[in-house]
Amino acid sequence: MSAQIIDGKAIAKSVRDDVAKKVSELKSKGINPCLAVILVGENPASVSYVTGKQKALAEAGMTDRSVHLPESTTEEELLSLIEKLNNDTSVNGILVQLPLPKHINEDRVIMAIKPEKDVDGFHPVNVGNLMIGRPGFLPCTPHGVVVLLEKMGIETSGKHCVIVGRSNIVGKPLAILMSSKKVNSTVTICHTGTKNMAEIVKQADIVVAAAGHVSTVTRDMVKPGAVVIDVGVNRIPDSTKKSGFRLVGDVEYEPISEVASFITPVPGGVGPMTIAMLMANTLEAAEKQNGLL
Ligand code: GUN
Repeated sequence: MSAQIIDGKAIAKSVRDDVAKKVSELKSKGINPCLAVILVGENPASVSYVTGKQKALAEAGMTDRSVHLPESTTEEELLSLIEKLNNDTSVNGILVQLPLPKHINEDRVIMAIKPEKDVDGFHPVNVGNLMIGRPGFLPCTPHGVVVLLEKMGIETSGKHCVIVGRSNIVGKPLAILMSSKKVNSTVTICHTGTKNMAEIVKQADIVVAAAGHVSTVTRDMVKPGAVVIDVGVNRIPDSTKKSGFRLVGDVEYEPISEVASFITPVPGGVGPMTIAMLMANTLEAAEKQNGLL
């Protein structure tokens, strides 16, 4: 058996096309959805993610108010920029690319973003709303995973979903979404403190790998017919590439494709969905701030 490959790029494109249509309708009413992406420093992965977000903004017809600050930026300077953007009614969404340089307190920065403009869904108000099922911005990567499953017609109700990783950005919020009434899966979270992880992952109908390490999930851990979603993005040296590296996920893709029913590739799986859901959140922010939702 060979797994069906989930084409995240194509599904993301359909989400982005829908967003672009709605943006054009809003613009005809004089509303210009606008996102400010703040990047501090030159972390190569972050630079590449931000470039992807800016390209998507342009393609959706949204206004890009991105700011690239030097590594030496102080926390006070960053907080004062956020304050300015919070009060600027022409800016609908604010996203600070993580990780930040070590001298800046990430927590304080996330807390400074107005929850109504927090299109990343990282502010405690949005995290809390997600937890209790109230409306708010859903974090882009976990939301993207749920939309992938939905668009592929993969049954989630009553299924056992094992998530490997407990980050605030992916593992924890995804556990909440997957166990919501709407998605209705039974969820187990595995992490670095988990004993016999292989045995637990083996029980999964849906495995989500979000650990941030190469080969976290191996073929022997995957039940035949399971759905495997790979959130990992790891750079490994590859002298055959111009860049000197290639991207791999957290799962052993080739061997697992032989046993899984569905699998997401890296790149081209979850990654494009993160950006698509960010565009959807920015549109939603513009609609809400203009009294349309
Ligand atoms: N760094 C890695 N993923 C993300 C994300 O989804 N949002 C932000 N702001 N930073 C990230």
